[in-house]
Formats: sequence, C-alpha cells, structure tokens
Amino acid sequence: MRLAIIPGDGIGKEVTAAAVSVLGAVGDAFGRKFELEQLPWSADYYLESGVTMPAGGYDLLRQFDAIFIGALGDPRVPDNRHARDILLHTRFELDLFVNYRPVRLLDARLCPLKDRGPDDVNFVVFRENTEGLYVGVGGRFKAGTDDEIAIQEEVNTYKGVHRIVRHAFEFAHSRGLTRVCMADKSNAMTDGHALWQRVFREVAASYPAITPTHYYIDALAMYMVLDPAQFQVIVTNNLFGDIITDLGATFQGGLGMAASGNLHPGRTSMFEPVHGSAPKFAGRNIANPIGAIGSMALLLETLGLVEEAAAVDRAVLDAVRERQVTTDIGGTLGTREAAQAIAGAIRRHSG
Ligand code: NAD
Ligand code: IPM
Ligand code: MN
Repeated sequence: MRLAIIPGDGIGKEVTAAAVSVLGAVGDAFGRKFELEQLPWSADYYLESGVTMPAGGYDLLRQFDAIFIGALGDPRVPDNRHARDILLHTRFELDLFVNYRPVRLLDARLCPLKDRGPDDVNFVVFRENTEGLYVGVGGRFKAGTDDEIAIQEEVNTYKGVHRIVRHAFEFAHSRGLTRVCMADKSNAMTDGHALWQRVFREVAASYPAITPTHYYIDALAMYMVLDPAQFQVIVTNNLFGDIITDLGATFQGGLGMAASGNLHPGRTSMFEPVHGSAPKFAGRNIANPIGAIGSMALLLETLGLVEEAAAVDRAVLDAVRERQVTTDIGGTLGTREAAQAIAGAIRRHSG
C-alpha cells in the first residue's frame, strides 16, 4: 500500500504524526507494509517557495492508494489560497464527490447533550464535496470601495446531486439502515434546491425499504440537538454539510474526535480529521489525535483492510473508556502519548 501523507499546518502536523504512529502499530500487528511518502505542501512551503501545490501535484496524488491529510490553515496566509489548492482542489481534481463524516458517540460522558449516550448519537453525514458554494465561480467588482459587488455562485448539477444522494441510499441499503434524511433550503433557494428535492424523490423511489425524510437545514440543526437518535443517514450540500459536521463533532466530544473521508468509490481517496489547524494549539502537544486516528481507520476500511480498521476503532474506544486521552476529553495525556496508548493497545491485542 502506498500512501501520500500531507501533514499540512498547525496541529495538522501533530495529529498526522500521531495517526502515522498508529498506522505503524497496525503494520506490526498485522504484518503489513505501508509505504509512506510525506509531502511538504503547507503554509510554510507556500511562504518559502511561492508555490501552493507544485505542477503535476494532482497527478502525483492519483498514483497513491490513498491520501492522508492533517489540516491546512495559517494566519500568515489570510486568503487561505494554499488550502484552496491543496485541499479543496484535490477534492475537485480527484472528483472526490463523497465527503463521508460519521457522527458516532463513543462514551456518554463526552456528549454535551443532556441524557444522550452512544445509542442516541450514531449517524453518518454525506456531504456533497465537488460543487455547491465551493466551486469558486464569481468575483468582486469595485473591490474595496463603497460600490463593491461580491458574487459567489452556488452550483448544483443533476449529476452532482444525483450521485451523492444515490451514494447515501446505497450506503443505507448496504448496511440495512431504514432512513435517509435530506436537508436543503428549498423554501428560500427555490431554484438550486428544487433540484435537490426532485432528485431526492426520484432516487428514493428505487429504495422502497428506506424511508426518505426531509428537513430544511435550519430545522435539521434544531433536530440534531433535540433528537439526534432519529438520524441514520443525512445527505446535504457542500456548505451545509461543512457546518452540521462541526455541530456533529461536538456531540462526539468536540472537534478533536471527528473523522472524515473524501471518497470517489474505486479511486484514490483522501482522509482527514474534520477539525482545522487550530493555530492556538499548534506545537504544544495538546491536540486530540482521535479524529486523525479515526480518519486513518476510515482509510484502512476503504482500502479493504477491515480487520485492521476495526482494531484501530477498538483501541480508540478502550483509550476513551480508560481515559488514556488528551485533556479536551478528560484525560491527562499529550497528543503523542495518547497516540502511543492507542498504538500500544493495537500491538498488545494482536500480539
Ligand atoms: P479548528 O478546527 O482549527 O479549531 C477550532 C477549535 O476547535 C480549536 O480552537 C479547538 O478549541 C478545537 N479543536 C480543533 N481541533 C482540535 C483537536 N484536535 N483537539 C482539541 N481541540 C481541537 O477551526 P478554526 O479555528 O475555525 O480554523 C483554524 C484554521 O484551520 C483556519 O485557517 C481554517 O480555515 C482551517 N481549517 C482547516 C480544515 C482542514 O484542513 N480540513 C478544517 C477546518 C478549518
Ligand atoms: C472542512 C474545512 C474546509 C471546508 C475549509 C478548510 C475550506 O472546514 O474540511 O470541513 O470548508 O471544506
Ligand atoms: Mn469544516
């Protein structure tokens, strides 16, 4: 297995090192060899070279079995152009149309919602990942003046909406789930989101065993807090999916806990924690590595290494239960030490 590793910025570097150390333990425990290539693309790299992503970068990425990325974002690059090229444009160029973001609570004590436990918080969000408001269509006219006009268009295509909605139903079907909820804002965005309405109805019709439900995105946010247990699969657009998965992360114990995959089934996919580079935490060995480690587990699972992924998930669950974790979720360990605890458990269980 050949993996591209992009640590990126801030705590991205630390949580990536943590996830890679856990991958090392998986390799030892299961007798597997992972060939890793570290790619330095980051704010530092951009500020030194003037290049966000070198020519041929996307083609290079396509040659790996999978990509792992920490986080991108640095106050010295206020327009975030390196993140656009390295993160967003990899999603576009590699056509990673599925942003798969499980929301799974491991331990009731981590949930900020009153009287909710692991049975109540266990759903997945499928975020459309290649269009919507992220496409960069638009521009500014008379920028910096009182006459400034700023336009940023939302793009919804039949093909784009159809494939993510279909993916959500296929996922539900393959796991024996019975509900898929679509969230849009078709009451206000009466053109773009009417397309979501039509496609959702159309796709749902071919899955008679699955009950399709719909909420406007504002109501969905409310119901996520009030009654998260009703959700099994949520499918939504790029921006709404971004927002509700930070909310979902808080149900899991905070941003440090949430994992994700940017997928194109059958092609090179990219895995990353949901959180960003958290500049305040950078370099202090305090970031929670579980979101990154969980993303590595998703990578393994996607590559067909199902037992390996399950071993990582089990070790994470044990670490959480035994409080062998970072301070944000009630432990006393640093980033490195928390990863070592998980790596140690993987080696012990299999040895
Ligand atoms: P952020 O996710 O970096 O951090 C917000 C807060 O969440 C932190 O201050 C911290 O309290 C908490 N947090 C995040 N990760 C944590 C972890 N691993 N352990 C413990 N606590 C954690 O979001 P932000 O502050 O809005 O953004 C910072 C930078 O990261 C920006 O430049 C932003 O654009 C970028 N960003 C990048 C990605 C990505 O690369 N995928 C995702 C989100 C934000
Ligand atoms: C995420 C992040 C990115 C996004 C940012 C860094 C552009 O918030 O992956 O959730 O909005 O997609
Ligand atoms: Mn986000």
